[in-house]
Amino acid sequence: MRVHVTDHPLITHKLTVLRDERTPSPTFRALTEELVTLLAYEATRDVRVERVTITTPVTQTTGVAIAEPRPLIVPILRAGLGMLEGMTKLVPSAEVGFLGMVRNEETLQPSVYAERLPDDLSNRQCFVLDPMLATGGSLLSAIEYLFDRGAQDVTAICLLAAPEGLAAIEKAVEGREVTIVLGALDERLNEHGYIVPGLGDAGDRLYGTVG
Ligand code: PRP
Ligand code: URA
Repeated sequence: MRVHVTDHPLITHKLTVLRDERTPSPTFRALTEELVTLLAYEATRDVRVERVTITTPVTQTTGVAIAEPRPLIVPILRAGLGMLEGMTKLVPSAEVGFLGMVRNEETLQPSVYAERLPDDLSNRQCFVLDPMLATGGSLLSAIEYLFDRGAQDVTAICLLAAPEGLAAIEKAVEGREVTIVLGALDERLNEHGYIVPGLGDAGDRLYGTVG
């Protein structure tokens, strides 16, 4: 598994505002989108392309285009939805599939409550969007889901991760083509399974609390 922690002052600046508890939802949503576009630049470094021939106003030349089958972007609902626009802005030709997951806040175990993905992901490059990698349970389930359907490789973009969750995923996906691109690697998980210092509950901060 490859892990890339993006080291850029603009990203750290935007993450600092995101972490601040005084940042209201509209700003939080806008910053999340901007951060994903910046992280997606790194995450798509190995996106498959094919050679194409085009004609400029001056001459014929060759360039590249995103190859078929097109990449599949998979936001993990609910919080991952806040990252979708930021990603499709950079890769507008990608397809989008959806996975709805919720973590039981007592047991910290994730469960799937919605799924809309192609049945066959053979040869597909998949990009999973989830802002928080805490215990790693949700992301690992998503990664397994995609490999079970034949995905070729999976790249996850997360704003923040805890070292405990990252280590759990690394152990579980040994030998698989998995890349994780992070905005920051935080200190630890607290006793409630929250990332420290973190930013709190990403879904609630994007969309408000659910009862
Ligand atoms: C949050 C977050 C991740 C998950 C991370 O989702 O968006 O999906 O928790 O925790 P884990 O690494 O311990 O599995 P949550 O279950 O709160 O659902 P939400 O997106 O609907 O708020
Ligand atoms: N989910 C969140 O939204 N935040 C955390 O810190 C952990 C899980």
